[in-house]
Amino acid sequence: MTFDPFRDFEERGYLRNLYGSKDVAAVKALEQKSFKKNLKSAIDALATTQFIEYKHILSIHKTLFGDIYPWAGEDRLATAPALNITKGGYDRMFAHPRDIRRAGEYAAYRGQDLSFMHEQPGEVMGLLAHAHPFLDGNGRTIMVLHAELAYRAGISIEWKQTDKVDYLRALTTELNDPGKGHLDLYLKPFIRSAIDRKQSISALKSLKGLGETQTSQDRLNRDSDRQE
Ligand SMILES: Nc1ncnc2c1ncn2[C@@H]1O[C@H](COP(=O)(O)OP(=O)(O)OP(=O)(O)O)[C@@H](O)[C@H]1O
Ligand SMILES: [Mg+2]
Repeated sequence: MTFDPFRDFEERGYLRNLYGSKDVAAVKALEQKSFKKNLKSAIDALATTQFIEYKHILSIHKTLFGDIYPWAGEDRLATAPALNITKGGYDRMFAHPRDIRRAGEYAAYRGQDLSFMHEQPGEVMGLLAHAHPFLDGNGRTIMVLHAELAYRAGISIEWKQTDKVDYLRALTTELNDPGKGHLDLYLKPFIRSAIDRKQSISALKSLKGLGETQTSQDRLNRDSDRQE
């Protein structure tokens, strides 16, 4: 079933994309085009931001996906306050819309503790992933932010050596059992010293798996169906 949180797919197309297209594959390709085109702007803006806050996570998304979605930069509290997100068969991994801001703020705060980020970049990624602020584009938004946090902490992650299925498995474990080092254990062999921002941009642009359609296990359920 097509993801239709606005319940207007027939009238406005997939996720109200600016083209009104109902061809999900075509919309996904346009998403990736928007991402690649705007990646440098997003990273340049972060580079000039002294202290990164939740509002900057919203700005990253707006910059990356503003060419395709009118709701780019708006979180799930604004776009779909009654939706609960389920992935991989789990329905408690991601923040409730009311908690997204706090979760994102906390993730950004921990990620800017340089020694914490240096030692536990996986835990920071878990915190960012838990916030899951948006209806789509979360993976790409938090990868961009995480690359900046890593740069500041003097490290980088060689994502092209990771495997998306294994990574998501470790991330799922981290989200269900946070703060115990699950994702750090997975990422450890891929941690390198910092690369400059320009290199990060080309690495993110060429990363396979980033922005790929998620598995058929992914589902979104209404809060009322599952919770509270
Ligand atoms: N099974 C899972 N367990 C844990 N987290 C998951 C799982 N599947 C997806 N995620 C998280 O959600 C992100 C994907 O969310 P979304 O589709 O909103 O973003 P995206 O930018 O389109 O995705 P991506 O770039 O990762 O393909 C993943 O990168 C990861 O952070
Ligand atoms: Mg997606």
